[in-house]
Amino acid sequence: MGATLVFPAVNQAAADYLAAARQRGERTVCAASLPSDAVDPEGDEVHRLPSIYDQDFEPRFLSLVTQYSIRRVFCPVASVHAFMRRLIDQQQLGLAMVGQSPIRQQVEQHRRLMARAERLLPLVRLCADGAGGLSLIEVAGVLRQASLIYGESNDDKLAAMMGIFARAPTGDVLEIGSLMGRSAFVLLYLAWRYRIGPLLTVDPWMSDNAVQRQSPQSFQTLVEEWDFDVLREGFLVNMVALRADDHNHLQLSSQQAFERYAAGQAGRCEATAKVSYSGRIAVIHIDGNHDYEFVRNDCRLWLGRTQPGSWLILDDYVWAHGDGPYRVGNEFLLEQADRVETAFVCGKALFVRLRD
Ligand SMILES: C[S@@+](CC[C@H](N)C(=O)[O-])C[C@H]1O[C@@H](n2cnc3c(N)ncnc32)[C@H](O)[C@@H]1O
Repeated sequence: MGATLVFPAVNQAAADYLAAARQRGERTVCAASLPSDAVDPEGDEVHRLPSIYDQDFEPRFLSLVTQYSIRRVFCPVASVHAFMRRLIDQQQLGLAMVGQSPIRQQVEQHRRLMARAERLLPLVRLCADGAGGLSLIEVAGVLRQASLIYGESNDDKLAAMMGIFARAPTGDVLEIGSLMGRSAFVLLYLAWRYRIGPLLTVDPWMSDNAVQRQSPQSFQTLVEEWDFDVLREGFLVNMVALRADDHNHLQLSSQQAFERYAAGQAGRCEATAKVSYSGRIAVIHIDGNHDYEFVRNDCRLWLGRTQPGSWLILDDYVWAHGDGPYRVGNEFLLEQADRVETAFVCGKALFVRLRD
């Protein structure tokens, strides 16, 4: 099948390519030119090639190609990519370049992002209901950052979040179940952007809580793949870009966190100055354990702290792995019908606005 030459193997794009190639069983050969160039972190041998501007480059490169049966070339540096493409074409070397140049990749990645944001902008505006929403650039910015964070909130749900914040009262923003912080990041940005109030996130990152016993066995066992220390650390890393004095995390179950919140003690944290919560919830995102009893308990505890105009976001109201959120959502809509001003489903989540 031949090998892929990764040249110059000097940056994160090279390291990512090598890791992915290893997983799919693709043989790779690393090369670099400058003595100071980084070495593959996995410890692969790095062959030295002269600079592409050196007369000696071509014969040395061709000798490496022959020696290691190289068939493809991956170049993660724009200038080298352009040079190698020309060399391979002009000399008809019969080698394939893997992927596009880093510059073209950026251009296309940005265009795809803007197309995603343009698709979502009408939804954001619809959910803002004329209250003035985010611009196209802001929607794209939120999507881009959120997409860098592993998570389970899809574009449509994030777009609806971006819209409803334009119509939220001031107060605390709550999240039950944060995983690595995708939705928490968006909530923190929106809370700041609309001057709503501080964010409190709650997640114990413990397998006992995370197992959803009412879901199929194959889904339950997914929990075993997580390293909960990585979840916690990953969450903290992901929130650094927006970390401010208006966010605290409680590494507790929803039940334990509520006791702290109700006692006015949710704002104490080591990392930042004390966060002042009002005790009145403006927006709550319930996305913890999805078993019926857990979701019902989350609603029972926290919804007592909502106020006129507050929003409830009940995640996975439409869900393939169980019906806890669906049953609790329906019970809420029936039992509290007189408190419900608007309710709609978007991105599988139920969005409910309480009456002013
Ligand atoms: C579906 S994930 C959350 C996804 C996240 N909101 C996102 O958008 O990426 C569910 C999270 O709920 C947490 N969880 C489970 N039981 C909980 C409980 N009793 N209280 C708070 N969080 C809980 C789990 O640790 C897990 O990280």
